Amino acid sequence: MEAVVDALEQRLQRRLRASTPKPLGLATGRTMEPIYAALVARLQDWPAAALEQLRRGWLSFNLDEYVGLGADDARSFSAYMARHLGEPLRLSPQQLHLPDGESADPQQQACRYADQLQSFGGVGVQLLGLGSNGHVGFNEPPCGPDASCRVVSLSKSTRQQNAAAFGADPSKVPLKALTLGLREILEADEIHLIVTGKAKAEILKQLLNSPCTDQLPASWLRHHPRVALWVDQAALNG
Ligand code: GLP
Repeated sequence: MEAVVDALEQRLQRRLRASTPKPLGLATGRTMEPIYAALVARLQDWPAAALEQLRRGWLSFNLDEYVGLGADDARSFSAYMARHLGEPLRLSPQQLHLPDGESADPQQQACRYADQLQSFGGVGVQLLGLGSNGHVGFNEPPCGPDASCRVVSLSKSTRQQNAAAFGADPSKVPLKALTLGLREILEADEIHLIVTGKAKAEILKQLLNSPCTDQLPASWLRHHPRVALWVDQAALNG
């Protein structure tokens, strides 16, 4: 996965030279953990002034968050981002935007989050993982390309897939989440879909052979003019 980290590091270098860089679009999940760790290691090797400039200008919007979980809950995506990027890079929590999972009105929060992202011009570089059922963010099938930021019900398979953080008990995984929609994702300037590990071999095969369909939300990425698919041997060969 050094290749994807090379590409990301290059995008961050470019970001330093942009006058008003667009927000980064970030994902959570196990796929991203080694990528963030490698990226942090690379960034820590940057000259101090460049790293400081990157830090000061950091602005990212995450894809999703569980309804009901806040930053002080280690299982929230907000806590994940603090652990994997915020703390090692010494970013302030205000620079790492995520939907507020504890909002009293989650649907209103979803609209507000999308508006806030829009006010910064939408996403520049979007990172995506792939759910075992073909979801991106938490856009569960069926999902069309016009779906916007909203509250979604998580499928049984997604709750199973994400159970590890909840003591391996799928019933403890929240029933709902807030997610950017395919609409906001497809509005990004460029997209990097990262698929690793044997467990993703089947859905990757489906994705590579599928036309655009609501049954496989990631298939709508084909409509995007600048999308890169990064896969490892295990995901490719099973
Ligand atoms: C999760 C998240 C996504 C993530 C994907 C893959 O449910 N909502 O943002 O990219 O599914 O997860 P993992 O990388 O753990 O396989």
